[in-house]
Amino acid sequence: MPRNPFKPTAGASPPLLVGRDDVLEEFTEALEDGPGAPGRLVIFTGPRGVGKTVMLTEVGDQALRQGWVTLAETATPGLVRRLQHAVTRALHDLDSSTAPGRSVTSVTLPVVGGGFTTTAPPTAVVEWRTELGRLLDTLERNGTGLLITVDEVHKGAREDLRDLAATVQHLIREDRNVALALAGLPSAVSDLLNDDVLTFLRRATPFELHDVPLDRVSDALRTTIAAEGRSITDDALDEATCATGGYPFMIQLVGYHVWRKADGDTIDLAAVQAGVPAARKRLGSTVHETALADLSDVDRTYLLAMSHDEGESSTGEVARRLGETPYYASTYRARLIAAGVIEPTRRGYVDFTIPYLREYLREHAARYEMASRGAGRHTRR
Ligand SMILES: Nc1ncnc2c1ncn2[C@@H]1O[C@H](COP(=O)(O)OP(=O)(O)OP(=O)(O)O)[C@@H](O)[C@H]1O
Ligand SMILES: [Mg+2]
Repeated sequence: MPRNPFKPTAGASPPLLVGRDDVLEEFTEALEDGPGAPGRLVIFTGPRGVGKTVMLTEVGDQALRQGWVTLAETATPGLVRRLQHAVTRALHDLDSSTAPGRSVTSVTLPVVGGGFTTTAPPTAVVEWRTELGRLLDTLERNGTGLLITVDEVHKGAREDLRDLAATVQHLIREDRNVALALAGLPSAVSDLLNDDVLTFLRRATPFELHDVPLDRVSDALRTTIAAEGRSITDDALDEATCATGGYPFMIQLVGYHVWRKADGDTIDLAAVQAGVPAARKRLGSTVHETALADLSDVDRTYLLAMSHDEGESSTGEVARRLGETPYYASTYRARLIAAGVIEPTRRGYVDFTIPYLREYLREHAARYEMASRGAGRHTRR
């Protein structure tokens, strides 16, 4: 049996990255364009499972392919300290490889992952900017530069991000070959951008990641399956494609479970019909639960009220169901839009952004209603 090529795991790069060519092209061009290119400072936002982490990995790979050094980090406490260590280590690796007779371009530095710790921390942490400057000196002599990626940005890491932003701003002003790519949930990023000490980040090019077109999903499913020596019938492919809703995480989940349910070389409709419920179940226990856990009880009651509708919900009607004035309901609405959980569809209407969240809420309504009882009017935030 050929191996299952799909990767339904947070942060895991998919076998085929669907629908992101334009974004990647813009980033690659920015690396080529030189210092000051706006695409060298980017922020990816979007709901859970849309592929933010994967995009950071991709831009990191693009940079590596151009001979750049990429330092990949997550916005947890100690971010700048970890970056300092990584810079020191990169310098050390480059220095030892720039001994006479060796060239920098022959060195491939590993992408330093989020859990990076040095076994032997530098005895003296030389000043961050000086070290960075030295690293950039070495890289620029070889026509390359440094990319820093930071995942899961949020207000909690404000101090570290401020230090990082100030440093990068300084380097950009000096026309250094540096690029910074950040990623976070829409509400987390807008919180940060509204922070007065982080105004510099408002200049970043924002990339809002959305679902991808179904025809691309269909092509990717077929190609991925074929690459492993299996095939899929047309009706099965249509059904599987529809079940993804164009949502990137669901592409991997559907692909993975449909692949498992098929016996022979051909994936047929029966395999898809058995695989899709398994994929949905997994989506619930990963994405839906996490997305709902990020929210307050009152926000969840708004979503529960929306889940009564088959499609988009009228915000006036949702307010009535909640027994709230439209004014109060509109503050929940705004928060949920900022969190990337719902989106306005037209004036006065909203819909879920994450596929099957409606169904998930209906199936688990009792649990969330119970939790929100007593959270109503008095604790309204
Ligand atoms: N463009 C894409 N095409 C196909 N699959 C994708 C794409 N983007 C992401 N995926 C898949 O979707 C899943 C989620 O991706 P990722 O972890 O990057 O999302 P995220 O936006 O970082 O989510 P979170 O907010 O929870 O961190 C992974 O299994 C990944 O392989
Ligand atoms: Mg992520």
